[in-house]
Amino acid sequence: MEKLEFYAAAIPGTERALCEELRELGFASVRLNRGGIPFRGEPSEGWRACLESRIAQRIQLLLGRFPCPSEQALFDGAHAIDWSAFLTPDHTISVSAACIASTITHSGFAALKVKDAIVDQVRATSGRRPSVDRDDPDIRIFLYLANNKAAVYVDLSGAPLHRRGYRKDAGEAPLRETLAAAILRMSRWDKTTTLVDPMCGSGTIAIEAALWARNMAPGLTRKQFGFERWVNFDPDDADTLKTMRGELRGAASGQSPRIVAADNDPDVLDMARSNARTAGVKLSFKQRDVREMQGDQAANIIVTNPPYGVRLEKAPSFCREVTATFSRLHGWRVCLLAGSPDYERELSTTPHYKRALSNGDIDCDFLVYDIK
Ligand SMILES: C[S@@+](CC[C@H](N)C(=O)[O-])C[C@H]1O[C@@H](n2cnc3c(N)ncnc32)[C@H](O)[C@@H]1O
Repeated sequence: MEKLEFYAAAIPGTERALCEELRELGFASVRLNRGGIPFRGEPSEGWRACLESRIAQRIQLLLGRFPCPSEQALFDGAHAIDWSAFLTPDHTISVSAACIASTITHSGFAALKVKDAIVDQVRATSGRRPSVDRDDPDIRIFLYLANNKAAVYVDLSGAPLHRRGYRKDAGEAPLRETLAAAILRMSRWDKTTTLVDPMCGSGTIAIEAALWARNMAPGLTRKQFGFERWVNFDPDDADTLKTMRGELRGAASGQSPRIVAADNDPDVLDMARSNARTAGVKLSFKQRDVREMQGDQAANIIVTNPPYGVRLEKAPSFCREVTATFSRLHGWRVCLLAGSPDYERELSTTPHYKRALSNGDIDCDFLVYDIK
């Protein structure tokens, strides 16, 4: 079977964690790369990545690479790809582009050129043209144009992979599930120590921790992936996918360490309860102010995403009080996805691990402390 080249798109800052995860999952030719991680395999390896990766935002399949010094080169290169394997005139499409250091600088224009090439090819063979749907297309195409070299990919995921399907309710500023999974890996949690998220919001970190500890594949709660809408996805493929889903379900274990999801807001906690139920995981819920935490029990690990922005500005002493509470948890590991530099400033010791991450449009630091 031919080896195809895939690309697992990453949230900025999570590339290393994603690379490590894909290697652990047994994918071939995994390479650390900025923005996303390339790997190789048979077509079903792409499907498996959609089902098993907790950290990838999208999985894409490389369709073609070509020099692209001009508009015409872009049109010709996209036109040379055989689109009949993916779509008919009855399919809808969307094209996105990113342009870096190239003659074509406008990503909207570049995307339009690729779309024109696809439509032109389909119309030439069928007499009809596919239409564009930006919100829920059957086929999503991505163009990366860097230094006048183009790479065209088709997306396997459909909706981005952080949309696992279990989070119906979200509180204020919910974390993407893929980012929660990435920081859990960066925390070096051993999946047996009790894990606490004392400001859990909709419960994303705690739920992702429980799914990981139980080896429950994150894609199992998804109803459909993008590749299931491709023309070449036939009934045999559907059977293979069903078998893969069944094997992954069988590989999940019933065992989970204690995972505590706490918040001081009872309504938010109700949302977290409902989300955990939908995800099929058991958590211990607590309504508690984080500042009441005591370090008198066995040392545990905290992974949390404390408030930032307006909420923090309204309560300037909050950050100092929370960090003072954490500083008293001797022997604990405290991991913070901090959307404000105040947390690092107040915790006067140097974190033993620090990584810059993007949480949507908020620049964050992930900070890990072993409290002495
Ligand atoms: C940035 S949100 C966490 C979002 C969460 N990671 C998610 O994915 O939904 C911060 C949370 O801290 C909670 N919070 C604020 N002050 C708190 C306090 N004093 N004690 C406990 N929780 C608090 C808020 O209710 C909110 O749910």
